[in-house]
Amino acid sequence: MKNLTALSLKIVEQQLYVLDQTLLPQQQQWLHCTTVPQMVSLIKNLQLRGAPAIGIGAVLLLAYRALQGDSREQLLQDAAVLRAARPTAVNLMNNLDTMLAALAQPDFVAAAVTCAEALFAEDVALCEQLAINGAALVQPGERLLTHCNTGGLATAGVGTALGVIRLAQQQGKAIRLWVDETRPLLQGGRLTAWECEQLGIPYQLICDSMAAMLMARGEVDRIFVGADRIAANGDFANKVGTYSLAVLAHYHQVPFYVVAPRTTIDLACPDGGAIPIEQRAADEVRGVSGAFGQTLWAPAQAAVFNPAFDVTPAKLVTGWVLDSGVYNQQQIAAGVLQQLNY
Ligand code: MRU
Repeated sequence: MKNLTALSLKIVEQQLYVLDQTLLPQQQQWLHCTTVPQMVSLIKNLQLRGAPAIGIGAVLLLAYRALQGDSREQLLQDAAVLRAARPTAVNLMNNLDTMLAALAQPDFVAAAVTCAEALFAEDVALCEQLAINGAALVQPGERLLTHCNTGGLATAGVGTALGVIRLAQQQGKAIRLWVDETRPLLQGGRLTAWECEQLGIPYQLICDSMAAMLMARGEVDRIFVGADRIAANGDFANKVGTYSLAVLAHYHQVPFYVVAPRTTIDLACPDGGAIPIEQRAADEVRGVSGAFGQTLWAPAQAAVFNPAFDVTPAKLVTGWVLDSGVYNQQQIAAGVLQQLNY
């Protein structure tokens, strides 16, 4: 397998390494990943996270296992186990379907390696195209807002929504960014803020509940978020809190864009109601954990509701920034996603 480098994944001399995102920004620790149970655990624990990144990590691990001599039958079983690691981001399932086709080839080892490398390269290229399409929407001096982490950490490339913001900044548009901290797991406060520091993007971190006030004061010009799954009618699932932002944006007439590659589209889901939503552990809401261990601030037995994602209906979306272009509600209703035929 070729050497490959992304912000959160790398192949070095045929070995797969994953940057432990639960330790950021305090520690940058690369984990050597060699087994399927290990990869499943990294994905479940969000050490590897972000819709495109988990799909790429899963296929890189399968290619590695194929090179280690695992049988085709074993690899097919492993693909099924990896598929169940997280339920909402469809990139995982889409990438594994592509890998299953490779594993059906007579020389399945070479095919698995070629497939994983191609999916990695495809994600890099899709992210670049998303950035070009989305940055064209941004006007000089705009104050942008984003939620969760959709940058290099979440993909093999420059990211989705954060890739758009990064390119707008590189184009000299003098943007400023509001970063939602993104409760409960703080992907905004820990990861997007860390990426902004690396990239020199001027940002201010806000608690999720502050976005309403900023919009009321006219201090948000445009919102870009990512997606974990886009249904056939344009409804989409993304990190919990995205729906509230969309409602707020609608009320305050702030343009609201979802940015995602074609690998995030699921035409088998007719609408957002069909998207499976992951429920996560209660302690994620009772407190916080990270490089410094875990702190609980709620009663240890507090009953908790903890969906990892919510669904934003298409009617609240100004535009879908896809790799093939930017589409409005009329175009989505007319079947643009179906024409992409993913
Ligand atoms: O639970 P996470 O951190 O994997 O959730 C990530 C998101 O919701 C992102 O917005 C989405 O995966 C798009 S990343 C390019």
